[in-house]
Amino acid sequence: MRKPLIVGNWKMNKTASEAAAFIRDLRERVPASPHADVVLAPPFTALESARSALGSSSWISLGAQNVHWEPQGAFTGEVSAPMLRDLGCRYVIVGHSERRTLFGERDEHVQKKVRAALKHGLSPILCVGESLADREAGRTESVVTAQLNGSLTGLSAHDLATITIAYEPVWAIGTGRSATVEQAAIVHRSIRLFVETGWNSDIASAMRILYGGSVTPQNIASLLACDAIDGALVGGACLNLDSFATIISFAQIPRA
Ligand code: PGA
Repeated sequence: MRKPLIVGNWKMNKTASEAAAFIRDLRERVPASPHADVVLAPPFTALESARSALGSSSWISLGAQNVHWEPQGAFTGEVSAPMLRDLGCRYVIVGHSERRTLFGERDEHVQKKVRAALKHGLSPILCVGESLADREAGRTESVVTAQLNGSLTGLSAHDLATITIAYEPVWAIGTGRSATVEQAAIVHRSIRLFVETGWNSDIASAMRILYGGSVTPQNIASLLACDAIDGALVGGACLNLDSFATIISFAQIPRA
């Protein structure tokens, strides 16, 4: 049984001091639990204060929202995997649709970022997902498969064991229009099959595949009740203490 993972993607929200206050409140509000893992992905500028607010033995892990593929060098404005490790990050979100659509990131960049993350001990959370036009044209599976191919080809089974995949339909992100459980489950199953075919069934059945796109306290329980869905990548609803605490609490209920 895969342990649910809830990732809070803060995007470009919260200052360093707001981050510290939020995390202190969250830790008071939600007890640690062995039944779910939680990752917070604040902006780079809040990673240090988030780390100190989390404390050294925290059950909540730190993640970043992006990474450059080179370890250092003349890349103005970029941040490398060793820098993120040094700040206590264990995870990094890679290939988010906002990076792809607003910042021109392509699969070849995503692949380099996945590799850099793995090389420096960060677990990539690889985002894939189709646009509304793709879905309406019946191209969901081919688009997602192409993104997976473009980002994961050539990686070893050992590498795959460290990766989490987040299925985030672009039309569901920040729109209030979540995919249905059935729509998500179909794509999740095809992602798992892709991993099984490309690597092996042990890796495929151990891999956590998250759903993202307008996850809320209202829909998290039905998403998690589906055995194809291993958690959520949460944007808007993770910025509010009440809603994020509720989402985590649902994930902490032991799965049957
Ligand atoms: P949302 O964002 O929950 O606000 O839809 C999800 C994401 O972009 O990861």
